[in-house]
Amino acid sequence: EMLEKGGYDHFMLKEIYEQPRSIYDSMRGRIYPLDGKVQLGGLVEYSEKLRNANRIIIVACGTSWHAGLVGEYLIEEFARLPVEVEYASEFRYRNPIINENDIVIAISQSGETADTMAAIQLAKEKGATLLGICNVVGSSIPRLTHGGAYTHAGPEIGVASTKAFTAQVTVLTLMALYIAQIKGTISQSKLISLLTELETIPSLVEETLKTNDQIIQIASELQDSRNCIFLGRGTGFPVALEGALKLKEISYIHAEGYPAAEMKHGPIALIDEEMPVIVIATKNSSYEKVISNIQEVKARKGKVVAIVTEGDVDVKDMADYSIEIPHADEAFLPLLATIPLQLISYHIAVMRGCNVDQPRNLAKSVTVE
Ligand code: G6P
Repeated sequence: EMLEKGGYDHFMLKEIYEQPRSIYDSMRGRIYPLDGKVQLGGLVEYSEKLRNANRIIIVACGTSWHAGLVGEYLIEEFARLPVEVEYASEFRYRNPIINENDIVIAISQSGETADTMAAIQLAKEKGATLLGICNVVGSSIPRLTHGGAYTHAGPEIGVASTKAFTAQVTVLTLMALYIAQIKGTISQSKLISLLTELETIPSLVEETLKTNDQIIQIASELQDSRNCIFLGRGTGFPVALEGALKLKEISYIHAEGYPAAEMKHGPIALIDEEMPVIVIATKNSSYEKVISNIQEVKARKGKVVAIVTEGDVDVKDMADYSIEIPHADEAFLPLLATIPLQLISYHIAVMRGCNVDQPRNLAKSVTVE
């Protein structure tokens, strides 16, 4: 087993470190920055359907559902197509309104999750076009769907999903740009600049992983916390949800992810000197607004850990700890900002003596309802 872990203490850490590679593998052969072109072989047959679709419904569970939320932002932004993201378990029992003009995308690492399978089975009966984003080749969901695109994350052993999530986000990014390309909702020059930047993301993830030593320090400060709040806006919001899920899954610390602006409608009541608040505060369109959210936390003596853009000064002055990540287009923020959150959870869980790779009560793939 030590060999399989490639010298890392746990599969989870190994898989976190594999992300430059798994993200690269998930876009390899699919993007042509010089021509400003995205190619997804498994969608070609459905180009016409995608061009004329009324909307996209994404169904998934757990971490895959969080990837779906990132997909919603990206598809709506670039392809100007309405997207709904549904928990597969709710969707399947809701008598949902679906027809032949709907595209249903199922996201699943394992390709075997029972609720997700049942959701697409239902959508299939109602005539929708089904697309899959799965990691396990030949698994049930890819066999049930009409088309789709695999993530190429390689086998994921740790129960808490890490590299599969960023691979899903990578493929959703490609899908958003692909649909935008066939619908003509994105200019060629924008596509060229986005794809050129996307190609550099694996090396920026590599850079981001260098925050590990600093994160060990921060984790040791946070390890005895009983609760933790994660905040983000825009694509930072699903990242916050995913950060909270990782922490609760493997360290058993109660954690909640919230859109930063919603804090005033509830979670702010929880903030005191005992409450760490981890904030995605990178330089993008919501930067100023997030700064005021941080001020609100500080005014109530909350402990702020901020994920900031390299060279940031304003947030750094306010936060108790700040972790710098490289600058990237807002669309690619989740691929970078997720990394430090994975590392924070990992180190806290190790410090608390938890079974990181096999947390209690959880299964890698849930094939029963
Ligand atoms: C389980 C796993 C999670 C995963 C979820 C959905 O709960 O522990 O890590 O996100 O299932 O799994 P899927 O294979 O469909 O992505």
